[in-house]
Amino acid sequence: MVTLEAFQINGPARPRGNVAISGAKNAALPALAASLLTAETISLGNVPDVYDIRTFARLLRGMGAEVQLEAPRCSLTASNLNNPEAPYDLVRTMRASILVLCPLVARCGRARVSLPGGCAIGVRPVDMHLEGLELMGARIKVEHGYILAETDGLKPIDYTFRLKTVTGTENLMMAAALIDGETRLANCAEEPEVIFMAEMLRTMGAEVQGDGTDNIMIHGKSRLSGGSFSIIPDRIEAGTYLFLAAALPDSEVTLTGIETDHLGAVIQKLSRIGADIETKDEGVRINGHRNLAAQHMDTAPYPGFPTDLQAQYMALMTQASGTSVIHESIFENRFQHVAELSRMGADIKLSGAQATVIGPSRLSGANVTASDLRASASLVIAGLAAEGTTVVRRIYHLDRGYSSMEQKLQALGCDVTRIKVDHA
Ligand code: EPU
Repeated sequence: MVTLEAFQINGPARPRGNVAISGAKNAALPALAASLLTAETISLGNVPDVYDIRTFARLLRGMGAEVQLEAPRCSLTASNLNNPEAPYDLVRTMRASILVLCPLVARCGRARVSLPGGCAIGVRPVDMHLEGLELMGARIKVEHGYILAETDGLKPIDYTFRLKTVTGTENLMMAAALIDGETRLANCAEEPEVIFMAEMLRTMGAEVQGDGTDNIMIHGKSRLSGGSFSIIPDRIEAGTYLFLAAALPDSEVTLTGIETDHLGAVIQKLSRIGADIETKDEGVRINGHRNLAAQHMDTAPYPGFPTDLQAQYMALMTQASGTSVIHESIFENRFQHVAELSRMGADIKLSGAQATVIGPSRLSGANVTASDLRASASLVIAGLAAEGTTVVRRIYHLDRGYSSMEQKLQALGCDVTRIKVDHA
């Protein structure tokens, strides 16, 4: 018997008030990895208090880095990297660990990093990370589940990514930042988190141009300096609260600490479904009502609709009138929430990479199980919309990426508590 934490939600909820959005997990993790590029101290602010950050801090400490983490602050000094290794036990729980590969090889000349393997949302290979690093001159072999990479010195490359990859782009940018010469990367990811990485590398002394477009040029330096950085707001956490408020009639929620420019596709979708949303100086205000019109949605690389909000959008679509065809184009297996939403009364048909939601459905509270981080958030939205009690099990997935979600929901007046549940 194991005991795991769960959220107990009594719905339907009518959230009212302000939510302060935390720093972006997916900007903070690469920022932690970038600390490996320099012997000087990197100071970070607005770091989210989430499990993945604590795991990444452990990963870096295991390599010999000094890490002081007291979210929202983190200070990192990698002056003595005596063990350039990322062990399976940590990588297994957090695929973003692959982000240490390029900085370690560029800085230490070698690395031993566990292959991430698949996860609940898909196979998620890292072939482009490896191909780019190999072209830079690293000798790479994969043995016993580990990537072994070494080099006597990396050289600049011209590389075109076969597909847009966020961490792949960030990883090769970090290697290039320590190479004295001009690397050109094409078909790069354009996410705000990539721009944040570019800003960091510029402050550390590398010349970086073109970030925010699909062509990035980096002229690195053989030595980089430290610096202080504030992590950008989490656009996925913001989108989650926007969809949550939109799904709940009579809600009135204002999000603060956000960057509305990063939420273009999300705000556009909310406007199209008829949500009552207003952008103000201090943030975005959204009021829930019963007359939402279903809209189709395709996930796409930025500036398209983020795959990390697909599950939450699906929960919202169960409350909109009409048919919504949701197409997942980034990850092949990111529909594990469908079966759980259906158990709560949603009408969803799944066919390959496409889910068809017919709404509105009267959801009823049930015991459901979270399968991954964003699926957990969609079940929380459904639980808040449902009549009666919902227990969302395996909430450790949610804790990987959402900072204090139950406190934020409680502050909005929602009846959400963290409980312990025995699992056979
Ligand atoms: N891909 C390859 N080969 C590679 C790299 C990627 O085939 O070498 C494929 C992937 O399998 C996927 C597509 O390319 O089909 C895009 O994946 P990407 O590499 O962009 O994903 P990632 O960098 O591993 C980041 C986020 C994810 C987010 C995706 C897509 C971080 C730490 N993680 O992952 O965040 O879903 O980009 O936007 O930045 C989450 O926060 O819940 C999360 C999963």
